[in-house]
Parts: sequence; structure tokens; C-alpha cells
Amino acid sequence: MNDLKSLLDMDLQAGEDDWTPTPHGQWLASVIARHDLVEGKEVLELGAGVANHTILIHRRGAKAITATEITEELLGTARTNFEANVGGDVPIDLRVADWLHTDGTFDMVVANPPFCQSGKQNRRYFIDSLILDGHKRLRPEGELLFVQSSMADVKMSLRRLNQNGFDARVVESTQGPFRDYYFDDPTFMAEIEQVDDAYEERDGTKYETLSVIHAKLRRWSPPATAHLPGR
Ligand SMILES: C[S@@+](CC[C@H](N)C(=O)[O-])C[C@H]1O[C@@H](n2cnc3c(N)ncnc32)[C@H](O)[C@@H]1O
Repeated sequence: MNDLKSLLDMDLQAGEDDWTPTPHGQWLASVIARHDLVEGKEVLELGAGVANHTILIHRRGAKAITATEITEELLGTARTNFEANVGGDVPIDLRVADWLHTDGTFDMVVANPPFCQSGKQNRRYFIDSLILDGHKRLRPEGELLFVQSSMADVKMSLRRLNQNGFDARVVESTQGPFRDYYFDDPTFMAEIEQVDDAYEERDGTKYETLSVIHAKLRRWSPPATAHLPGR
């Protein structure tokens, strides 16, 4: 199954509380479908939602997949959709877990991190968490693959990734109009005015840029003089 249409063709069921894929998730899917990023890797996917990326990661030839959701109910949707599209005999490790708080190390962590509706004072919390603590779930030279909006400050992510030991790049970007719900949150609309290049406005319509970021951990060991009790 290698042509783009077949890779992205899925029958996805979603309940009221499930996250229906938005342009962010669709762009991440498009990039995973068109690039050799996950092939042969042991992948941890955070916040699998309706399993749109889980199915694709399998079709793109990942060696093994662990996928998480925040509740058993949400995880149930991912399980149902994965089995319906891939078959019940394909092994997958599905876990309830709060973001990176799970066991094990992997070749790659994939996510579409909550941002506009992250529910955190630092709206970038889930992106920053990946950048700061992603290494705990990664093997040496492990990789992060995630999508984010220009409104979440792509330059900040690239700078922080570099500070935290990653070689990072934008794989591909695309532009799309603001979703209606952005305008429902005046705090959000005020916050994005503080971000350089957060959006473009043309003919009265605001456009965000969606970027898929790939980051690879540089090999590194703390110096012998570092105070690391119990290491
Ligand atoms: C932006 S949606 C992405 C869903 C799907 N991956 C996609 O791209 O369409 C973020 C997902 O993360 C899940 N989520 C939210 N908080 C989480 C947490 N603390 N740990 C794990 N998943 C979480 C949500 O339930 C939601 O499915």
C-alpha cells in the first residue's frame, strides 16, 4: 500500500468526545505519508485520537507502535479504528498515559500536541514538554516528529530544541485559514499578537502556517563533574 490515496484512505469512527482530525493532524498525516520518516522504527505516538496517524504509521512500515490516550474511553476509539483499518492480528501496544509519563524508550515519538485548547497557562505546555522531556522516552539519537502552528512560535521551538540537544528542522509547512474556534477565545487572540510571524492576513482573512518539525537527539553524555546523585 504505497500510493498516497491508499495510505490516507481510512474508515474512522468518532464519538462526541473524540478529537476529529483537523488541518494540523491532516498535514502531519500528509507529511508522514510522503516522507520516509517512520519506516523500521519503534514509534511512541502520544494522543492517538481516532488513530488516524497510528494506522498511517503502521502502513508506512513502522517496526512497532505504542499509542497513548489520556482516558480508557478515548483509547477505545483508537483501538476500534486501528483494528477496523489494519486488522485485529497486527500487534500494537495501546496505553492510557498522561503525555510522556509512560514506560520505555523508543526510536521516535510522534505527536500532534494540543495547543490552542491545551488548557494550560503555558499554552505551549505539551510542545515544551516534548522538547524538555522527550529524551526520557527516546533512545540515543532518537527522534521527535510533531506538527505545530506558527501561532505556537516555530522559531521558539527550533531554538529550544537546539538548546535541549536536538538537531531540528522543519520538514514541510503549509498555510490554512484560522479555525472558527480561535476567535471564541479572546485570550488566545491576544496572545498570538505577541508572537513574531504568528499569522498572515490577506483580504481580511487570517492564515496560520502549519509546520511539521523533525528533531534528532545529538549523542551526548553529561560531564563527569556533573552533580547527578544516583546516576
Ligand atoms: C490535537 S489532538 C490530536 C489527535 C490526533 N493525534 C490527531 O492528530 O488527529 C490531541 C490529542 O491528545 C490527547 N491528549 C490530551 N491531553 C493528553 C495527555 N495529557 N496525554 C495524552 N494525550 C492527551 C487528546 O485526547 C487528543 O486526542
